[in-house]
Amino acid sequence: MTESTIESILHENRTFNPPETFAKDATIGSMEQYQALYDRAATDPAKFWEELAESELDWFEKWHTALDWQPPVAKWFDGGKLNITYNCLDRHLTTWRKNKAAIIWEGEPGDSRTYTYAQLHREVCKAANAIKAMGVNKGDRVGIYMPMVPEAAIAMLACARIGAVHSVVFGGFSAEALRDRLNDGEAKLVITADGGYRKDKTIPLKSAVDAALADNAAPTVTNVLVVQRTGQDVIMQEGRDVWWHDLVGAASADCPPEPMDSEDMLFVLYTSGSTGKPKGVVHTTGGYNLYTHVTTKWTFDLKDTDVFWCTADVGWITGHSYIIYGPLSNGATSLMYEGVPRPSNPGCFWDVIEKYGVTIFYTAPTAIRAFIKMGDDLPEARDLSSLRLLGTVGEPINPEAWMWYHTVIGKEKCPIVDTWWQTETGGFMLTPLPGATPTKPGSATKPFPGILADVVDLDGNSVGANEGGYLVVKHPWPSMMRTVYGDFDRFRRSYWEHIPAKDGNFMYFAGDGARKDADGYFWVMGRVDDVINVSGHRLGTMEIESALVSHPAVAEAAVVGKPDDLKGEAVVAFVILDGGYTGGDDLAKELKAHVTQEIGAIARPDDIRFAEDLPKTRSGKIMRRLLRNLASGQEIAGDTSTLQDRSVLDKLRG
Ligand code: WT7
Repeated sequence: MTESTIESILHENRTFNPPETFAKDATIGSMEQYQALYDRAATDPAKFWEELAESELDWFEKWHTALDWQPPVAKWFDGGKLNITYNCLDRHLTTWRKNKAAIIWEGEPGDSRTYTYAQLHREVCKAANAIKAMGVNKGDRVGIYMPMVPEAAIAMLACARIGAVHSVVFGGFSAEALRDRLNDGEAKLVITADGGYRKDKTIPLKSAVDAALADNAAPTVTNVLVVQRTGQDVIMQEGRDVWWHDLVGAASADCPPEPMDSEDMLFVLYTSGSTGKPKGVVHTTGGYNLYTHVTTKWTFDLKDTDVFWCTADVGWITGHSYIIYGPLSNGATSLMYEGVPRPSNPGCFWDVIEKYGVTIFYTAPTAIRAFIKMGDDLPEARDLSSLRLLGTVGEPINPEAWMWYHTVIGKEKCPIVDTWWQTETGGFMLTPLPGATPTKPGSATKPFPGILADVVDLDGNSVGANEGGYLVVKHPWPSMMRTVYGDFDRFRRSYWEHIPAKDGNFMYFAGDGARKDADGYFWVMGRVDDVINVSGHRLGTMEIESALVSHPAVAEAAVVGKPDDLKGEAVVAFVILDGGYTGGDDLAKELKAHVTQEIGAIARPDDIRFAEDLPKTRSGKIMRRLLRNLASGQEIAGDTSTLQDRSVLDKLRG
């Protein structure tokens, strides 16, 4: 966040009540109703969720225990059996929704497709049979590395149908990053496409998979299933690679859903932490299904006539929870768009809203800031009158961007839901309920019913109003992550050991700083660990540093974030070269390309600064705080007495 964002958030005192017409028809239509719901849930969260599990989902067998909590291990609805695709597909087929649009898809070059619930069910069953025929069994992991095409959603649901665990890797990650994730999850199959469209270019996906698998570097992978999207040339390896249209095309459409234990793994999704390699966040079936269902229903106040558009990529948790599982479990129409705004088509989002009559639009602050820059003419030239609700996610939204969204896109009639959550939480934790909660620009407002969130100090004591502290959750919730794939100890260390249990409550440590104002509204201030948030994408500084030092010229590197008007944060790398290399523009370019190759373009440093030395403590720890000050051109703040060699700072300042 920039200084000015923090300043404006600290002094923000505007309040916007839900429009009366909106509140009148909303499922939760007043603050009294929210408070009653919240209080009831807080008294006995397990009972609250149990009642919802009963009324909102279909189960093959009922659970014996709503919540079994042996900190930090939570089991929700243990003994219960269900299949999330039954809730997302089959149960709608016996209702009028059978022929309702489940997914409306708009392709980047202008092609489009719509799948009704009946059609989607059929495609998922066929794909499920196809991957079964490739030897994928219940519990096996499947890597999915796809562009934003309907087959990405179909592939995920097909895995869930047969109890295979999907591990979606964002199509913008490099071959190296893909390989690491396939290996960590011991994937048996990879589902990909020949290529994808991105900003008027095609990106090669199949050849990246080939590179990831070359020289037997991901030995658990035995097959690759390839969707034809761009028609570009690809090499199909005999015996390993199969075309989707051949195999899925010929498969039977009869595939009963596998009965899954509530706590069976549903998916793994990798995210960056402050140390080491990315963590495989594990989500399980029953709790995740319930929580994404209920949060979609109440936070977006879903109606059967809604056309819901979440602009995320399915490669992120937002796509998992709020393009696929949450909306489909509710029988909603979910819009999927392959494109992104680009110079050749800056108004494409507004075209999509107009074309399909989108009613709920959910996007990221970084996109909103980019729209502001592109000018009001673009949205004003389109008919956006179908919109009734707006949402934002990914990073704190600066009040000016919130106001623009409210005025120019929402025409002052659409509530805005600013949803704070994480890959680890599975679904919304702090969010307004649009018919009930008065909103304040820049605040994610209040916890969702059943979520006991707080701001505490390092000893676990709640801090006073407007005092900064750490954002924690004091009671388990159904869609919380269960472990780090293959590393339970890392799960415990990363989330449960920073803040000690207090009054019998174990505290989930989110890694964010926050404050609560006098009205109990939460203001999330950003990460307190070595994670940076670039355009709503989470990056570990250590990951970028290891990518840099894997280059022969680099002896040492330290990466920090610097405030950026568009991206929220930009990546700045301080680099110390090995003897024999001299810094310059060419080498800087080469290092940027090297990071792109190792991780992906999202991690590419914006700024490389060659240095002779880094500021370190006497025990040899890099003082990133000082580097952050330097990167953003601020005065060095705070105590520097532990610094080993003070002259280093002067040299870095140049
Ligand atoms: C981190 C989680 C889960 C959605 C996409 C990102 C930041 C997310 C907000 C918000 C302030 C936010 C936090 C969080 N964040 N939403 N509404 N206000 N900060 O998921 O990659 O797991 O990143 O994104 O710092 O910890 P993610």
